[in-house]
Amino acid sequence: MDSKHLVGRDSKREESQIEALATLPPELEEEIGKLDKDFWVSKEKLKEISERFGEELAEGLEENGKNIPMNITWVLGFPTGRENGSFLTLDLGGTNLRVCWITLKDSKRGDLDVKQHQYKLPSELKTGEAEALWNYIAEFLEKFITDLDLKGTKDDPLPLGFTFSYPATQDYIDHGILQTWTKGFDIKGVEGEDAAQQLRDAMAKKNLPIRLVALINDTTGAMIASAYHDPSTIIGAIFGTGCNAAYMEDCGSIPKVAKTAGITPDTPMAINCEYGAFDNAHRVLPLTKYDTAIDAESPRPGEQAFEKMSAGLYLGEIFRQVLVDVHSRGLIFKHQDVSKLKQPYILDTGFLSAIEDDESEKLSKTGDAFKETLNIAPTEPELEFIRRLAELIAVRGARLCVCGVAAICRKKRLSSGHVAADGSVANKHPKFKKRWAGAMAEILEWPEDREEDPIVLTSAEDGSGVGAAVIVAMTLERAKRGKMVGIKEQG
Ligand code: BGC
Repeated sequence: MDSKHLVGRDSKREESQIEALATLPPELEEEIGKLDKDFWVSKEKLKEISERFGEELAEGLEENGKNIPMNITWVLGFPTGRENGSFLTLDLGGTNLRVCWITLKDSKRGDLDVKQHQYKLPSELKTGEAEALWNYIAEFLEKFITDLDLKGTKDDPLPLGFTFSYPATQDYIDHGILQTWTKGFDIKGVEGEDAAQQLRDAMAKKNLPIRLVALINDTTGAMIASAYHDPSTIIGAIFGTGCNAAYMEDCGSIPKVAKTAGITPDTPMAINCEYGAFDNAHRVLPLTKYDTAIDAESPRPGEQAFEKMSAGLYLGEIFRQVLVDVHSRGLIFKHQDVSKLKQPYILDTGFLSAIEDDESEKLSKTGDAFKETLNIAPTEPELEFIRRLAELIAVRGARLCVCGVAAICRKKRLSSGHVAADGSVANKHPKFKKRWAGAMAEILEWPEDREEDPIVLTSAEDGSGVGAAVIVAMTLERAKRGKMVGIKEQG
């Protein structure tokens, strides 16, 4: 088997752990060898994927309706770092609902104060009706402004930045027609509609003294929040429940907006790529049968092909699918009750990270986690198999994650800077950053003897809070100066 991929691919700890554990019986060794072949993405393949990525990014800038939509955001440029004021922000991500009251202080670059409430979004809302979602959010906002005693009036409402982390067509910054739900959401009555207006209507029903100034994506938020502190920021990326990135493009290079009145070719425009949709036509991605099954069983088969192989929502599920398959062929968990393992999405990406992070003797922590979550007691060789499998899936995810960012860097000729990343995979997975940097070096052919990496993955600042607040400040400032291109509601 191609075990050289496993040993020596990562840290010493893994090698020594392999020594410490029982070797695999031949049938499991053979199985992990096959899986390694299926999940390993070679340097050549990475380059091929990244090349095709570049083509799809360019197509999306040409016109609307392309596979990677390259959504224009009406965030026209980076912040100065001296934006100021107090703003409400609301974040509807994949997992949580969060409201903040953020004060940007303008005393020194990036100085601010944040007050916030966060809740896990009730799962029934994710597949319910639009009205239930927006009413729930409006109540949440009402409670927050009451608790903090925030006073807005009809004439002087509280300005709100709404982070809506789904693909949206924005004719204006305060507008966003949902193209399709992603990340397992399936709420009826929002696709094809203006999510900003639906939220406004729900707030109006409650007479909330709030004005929605900007609808933003989490990637744009991550880029702007990070640039607010760190001018070396070139890209905002999310490697979390979903995956995506935003970068700054010149309008002259975006044929679909180039002719808009009030826009000059050198006007910078943040682009929310929505590249989770990359290769929905399955031309280059190395799909395994597990990826095909996950797609078929998802609420939107045929969509988000790239995201389904690399994002946090799916990594645990890929892992589970493999274990179910290997068990069904009698190779693992003999005579054990696998009913829990058969539950789709029972394992999240944190479960996978914990396995890779397990330094306990004989992987006892992993054994405990299997007992607790799945009611399965793995044998020592099974634990070793589990750990290697977790690594294969996480390594593939991290390597794939690089392809989109590398394509943006090549397209924009960005040769140095910071890629500000947020999300559970980027920030909580123990080895993601190292793997990401390694694959980036392979695709961009960085010299072996370099002193440091020219493009570095940094931890993004709070995009859906601070980023949204900074974008609201920038938008209000722009409206004050009468630069109303891409702004619908008057300030
Ligand atoms: C969404 C993007 C978002 C990404 C990360 C994807 O599923 O379509 O809008 O940026 O997840 O949250």
